[in-house]
Amino acid sequence: MKDLEKLVFNKLKDNPSRINHVKGVIKVAEELAKIHDEDVLKAKLAALFHDYTKYDEISEQTKYLDQEIIKKYQDNEFMYHPYSAAIKLKQLIPNVQDDILDAIRYHVFGRPNMTKLEKIILISDKSEPSRTFEDAKIIYNLALNNLDDAVLYLLESSLKHLKSKGVKPLDEQIQTYNYYKRKEEIMVKYESVVKVLEDIKAKDIKVYDFNKTSPFYDYFIIATVNERQANAAANNLKQSFKDELLNIEGKSSGWVLVDLNDVIVHLFQAQEREFYGLDKMLYGFQIDNNK
Ligand SMILES: [Fe+2]
Ligand SMILES: [Fe+2]
Repeated sequence: MKDLEKLVFNKLKDNPSRINHVKGVIKVAEELAKIHDEDVLKAKLAALFHDYTKYDEISEQTKYLDQEIIKKYQDNEFMYHPYSAAIKLKQLIPNVQDDILDAIRYHVFGRPNMTKLEKIILISDKSEPSRTFEDAKIIYNLALNNLDDAVLYLLESSLKHLKSKGVKPLDEQIQTYNYYKRKEEIMVKYESVVKVLEDIKAKDIKVYDFNKTSPFYDYFIIATVNERQANAAANNLKQSFKDELLNIEGKSSGWVLVDLNDVIVHLFQAQEREFYGLDKMLYGFQIDNNK
């Protein structure tokens, strides 16, 4: 790491403010990695290299880039630097992990469904101490608690900034923003479903997230209820989610399914829950709904 630091800071030596920025990104990335249980070394390496090629000639940067990337960003040449930096790092360290390279590639605007490392580098780049715009501090403070909240705020803030300047955002900025906005809405939704289930004292409430694997729904919520609770839950959900309720099935079967479009609620009686074994099949998709 020490040798790599020397290499990077030597390359950027004519731009002291950029060196300062990179050091700030490393510091914040390290801090966020520790808080959010990410590999600290990976975070530091991605942070160190993210702007490595920032001041290289465009012709130097495009030498190794895919034609697709060159074409995509021909009117926004500053977007070459994350891709060329990832290529340089791969040349220097051939066995470098792909997730480090992705964190470098997407550090400017992010992308939908980012890894934790990608979010950390995106956030650190925008909120390190030498960033002076007003929202930087807010982004940083949000990130200490929740990376997705910080990402959404950051994306919103940069879209607002572009709008105020009359600049059209890139498609990927809008796509990424829409993705995280929707994610936030659906989180709010599943949390209120969980609240309805807690209110009727349903037992063993589990939330499963299919975000990466299914285009049809995002969450399964499973709970154990008796018949009376199942009816109460179905009625309360019907009232709370009038516009989003697609279907209620299996009312007298010991397995009631309430389809709220992107949240599917399964209300099992204890025996049926055990018998159908849905929890076992969904093992690995569970998320912690107590945070
Ligand atoms: Fe950059
Ligand atoms: Fe940067």
